[in-house]
Amino acid sequence: MIREAETKDFKTIYILGEEVQKNFKKKFNLENLIEESYFHILVYEENGKVVGFIIYTLLEKTVDIVELVVHPDYRNKKIATNLLDAMITNSNVDTTFFLEVAVDNFIAIKLYEKFGFETIYTRQKYYGQKDAYVMERRPQ
Ligand SMILES: CC(C)(COP(=O)(O)OP(=O)(O)OC[C@H]1O[C@@H](n2cnc3c(N)ncnc32)[C@H](O)[C@@H]1OP(=O)(O)O)[C@@H](O)C(=O)NCCC(=O)NCCS
Repeated sequence: MIREAETKDFKTIYILGEEVQKNFKKKFNLENLIEESYFHILVYEENGKVVGFIIYTLLEKTVDIVELVVHPDYRNKKIATNLLDAMITNSNVDTTFFLEVAVDNFIAIKLYEKFGFETIYTRQKYYGQKDAYVMERRPQ
């Protein structure tokens, strides 16, 4: 089941987020950010447990995907696909989507390409020493 995140989910979201980004909790004060109308979190719940989430911002006709994480034990079961589908369904058809992804995150890049994202440029040393692709999905 996909639903909007509630305060009670934040602890799990922080744990999942910290596994892929060491400073996740420091970077995102979810309790404050969730108050902002442009800030959105969708969670994927299985048997009452949050096992994945997507965080994105929506300003006018632009969505920025901030983070997308699925629990390692639940990967490759289309959970990220379902979360992206839900985000796109929640947005207007004329929305443009952007994201940054590490150049060696082949799994995520493949997933985004499936959704019609294309690399528009490379940001040098975006993740420490690592470069990131900026990817865009134009209205379709
Ligand atoms: C990237 C991530 C969110 C994908 O989640 P997921 O729920 O496993 O993804 P899905 O099951 O929806 O897979 C969708 C597509 O991703 C690609 N993919 C997923 N797992 C893969 C694997 N092990 N090897 C290669 N491609 C893979 C495939 O293209 C797949 O589509 P297909 O099954 O039709 O071939 C997950 O691996 C994750 O949390 N990674 C760590 C965090 C991260 O890197 N987030 C992205 C930051 S930009």
